[in-house]
Amino acid sequence: MLDQGAPPHHDGPATPSSPGLAARLMRRKPVERLVAEGGQGEGGTLRRSLGLWQLTMISIGATLGTGIFVVLGEAVPKAGPAVTLSFVIAGLTALFSALSYAELAGTIPVAGSSYSYAYATMGELVAWICGWCLVLEYGVSVAAVAVGWGEYLNELLDGTIGVTIPAALSAPPGDGGIFNLPALIVVLLAMTFLLGGARESARANTIMVVVKIAALVLFCAIGVQGFRSGNYENFMPLGMAGVSAAGATLFFSYIGFDAASTAGEEAKNAQRDLPRAIMLSLIIVTVLYVLVAAVAIGARPWRTFTDSEASLAQIMTDVTGQEFWGTLLAFCAVVAIASVVLTVLYGQTRVLFAMSRDGLVPKVFSRVHPKSGAPRANTLIVSLFCGVLAAAIPLGQLADATSIGTLFAFALVNVAVVVLRRTRPDMHRTFRVPLAPVLPALGFAFCVWMMGSLSTVTWVVFGVWMAVGLVFYFVYGHRRSRLATPDTSAAQKQQ
Ligand code: ALA
Repeated sequence: MLDQGAPPHHDGPATPSSPGLAARLMRRKPVERLVAEGGQGEGGTLRRSLGLWQLTMISIGATLGTGIFVVLGEAVPKAGPAVTLSFVIAGLTALFSALSYAELAGTIPVAGSSYSYAYATMGELVAWICGWCLVLEYGVSVAAVAVGWGEYLNELLDGTIGVTIPAALSAPPGDGGIFNLPALIVVLLAMTFLLGGARESARANTIMVVVKIAALVLFCAIGVQGFRSGNYENFMPLGMAGVSAAGATLFFSYIGFDAASTAGEEAKNAQRDLPRAIMLSLIIVTVLYVLVAAVAIGARPWRTFTDSEASLAQIMTDVTGQEFWGTLLAFCAVVAIASVVLTVLYGQTRVLFAMSRDGLVPKVFSRVHPKSGAPRANTLIVSLFCGVLAAAIPLGQLADATSIGTLFAFALVNVAVVVLRRTRPDMHRTFRVPLAPVLPALGFAFCVWMMGSLSTVTWVVFGVWMAVGLVFYFVYGHRRSRLATPDTSAAQKQQ
């Protein structure tokens, strides 16, 4: 049954009498149609094979990685020991938005995540902007994370066989090299798993997630032995401004908890499991982050943290006096970051899958391979794009650009939850944000505050990114949108 109970004046495709530009930009896709089209691509359907455990692992896989293994070292000099507080603030920002994600993922369990939520509530233009931000959150962050992977790989090679990949082959032009080969390799490895299908990828990811959680627990167990309470004297040397600046940087480490929401069309029981997977992964990750940060600061005076080094591995070596433990941690970081690449790349392919089904990006992105049930052409294109981006472009500013795009998408999700409560109060919701609209409003405010803490350069990068996205929308998506053409969707065929 499609569109039953949907107020006709809110939803539905453009009328044949050619509506004006404003109406076309605001056209919304009915929730029922979004859900009914779930799984359907060009020439096949995605396979529903993921349970609660795999979905939770996908979200943890996408979240836990470069942020804690690499970015922590950049954040400590900004906040001092109060970096633990920065993790809590960044975690709160993520938490409020996670509640909104959980409600919408349970109500509209499709692959497009916040892009689809925006399409159902705020119209096509906002949905496009949201989807374009998701390309920053997923596609561009894959490239940034792949670069972090290369750095840890070098650390590992140095610690085990005493050689490192020469700069010419481990850095892009502009960063002292010619080509970042490790970054390309890790993206291609992830692509190989993804081509095999969601279930195979989820299996590999689960193993990697277990390794990374074990590594962080081991870090805490060993690091706590070097704990000195004196390291916590003068807790907030750089004031609240330092704490919030570090929080904005550390927000990167929370990006990805929403990855499960891109698996809505491959989950066995999406409405029940997606909200649980999102909340569970965020809780596990936040607890780990705060513990790891508290132990790291206790084991090493904050002034000795510097931007570039693998801080956690270094602390392991210092506390034990043995290189072995540092090298072991570097190995685990290599595994950990590879799983971020895998799951975030997965998320990007699924968001583009949904956008393509809606006609906003080319059809090739929603073509499904009949044997694997995976969008193979989509996976190949996205992987090659991200791999080359990681290998050939210096990505210095990109981690923050990724954060600003993600925060923008999160802010929209907090709005979407309130809009849907008003326009469709009758809908069945498997999870409801408590105290709405207060908590979504707080979520929105935290996102805006965090965005305000990012640098001017990051805002400029974001502005240019959005401008390019809008040009693409008006030249391509706006005209080819499925809502602009007579509806020949599979959803309708079913009626
Ligand atoms: N949160 C992900 C990471 O830290 C992007 O690697």
